[in-house]
Amino acid sequence: MRKILVAGNWKMHGSSSMVSSLLDGLLAAPRSESIDLAVFPPFPYLAKAQAMLAGSGIAWGAQTLNPLSQGAHTGEVSAPMLVDLGCRYVLVGHSERRTIYGENDEDVAARFAAALEYGLEPILCVGETLQEREDGRTEAVVERQLQAVLDHSGVEAFGRAVMAYEPVWAIGTGKTATPEQAQAVHAFIRDKIASRDDIIGGQLRILYGGSVNGSNAADLFAREDIDGGLVGGASLKAEDFLAIRDAAA
Ligand code: 13P
Repeated sequence: MRKILVAGNWKMHGSSSMVSSLLDGLLAAPRSESIDLAVFPPFPYLAKAQAMLAGSGIAWGAQTLNPLSQGAHTGEVSAPMLVDLGCRYVLVGHSERRTIYGENDEDVAARFAAALEYGLEPILCVGETLQEREDGRTEAVVERQLQAVLDHSGVEAFGRAVMAYEPVWAIGTGKTATPEQAQAVHAFIRDKIASRDDIIGGQLRILYGGSVNGSNAADLFAREDIDGGLVGGASLKAEDFLAIRDAAA
């Protein structure tokens, strides 16, 4: 049976007290056997997540990493540091990293490989802009983003990774992809992986991200190839985030 993953990307939001109360809220809720929860706080709050969530069944991870393990790279954070903080996951290739911080497909592939090298599970984010969708290039863009990682790490790597389809035009806009639009891209991604390895393609978890909330989550998660959500805004309040988890139940 597939297990849904509901992941909360907090982006550059939060404070010490907000993190405490948000995590308290998540910890107070009954657990679900069929749904995994994970949170992605900003770096300064990972130690607090580790202290509060250890042993709870709720996982935590980072929003990015540097592909190098150490060195003179002021301001950067490496995979071994994330492992040290108990992270299970790390996001790679989020569209905000690609567009605002200039990470190209090769940079993303290097980060994906570094995460795996140290035993972290990368969540590889892919997705097209509105212009690209309107130009009929959605599949070409997603394929290019995926191919860079396949070229670098091979299909076996996807046996230890998660993917997220996040159409850029749906992120933070309140404009969710329809379940049909999302399902079509998810199926495309799964086919690309399955054409190289059936079993890995079949088992790969592909999350949808982009204005997911408690009202639209159930419809999205009901689709065959949508294995959960990567949630931004609605992951910043325990009750909103839990409503999405409950929609998956
Ligand atoms: P929103 O849920 O706020 O649209 O953000 C989606 C996202 O980018 C998660 O990584």
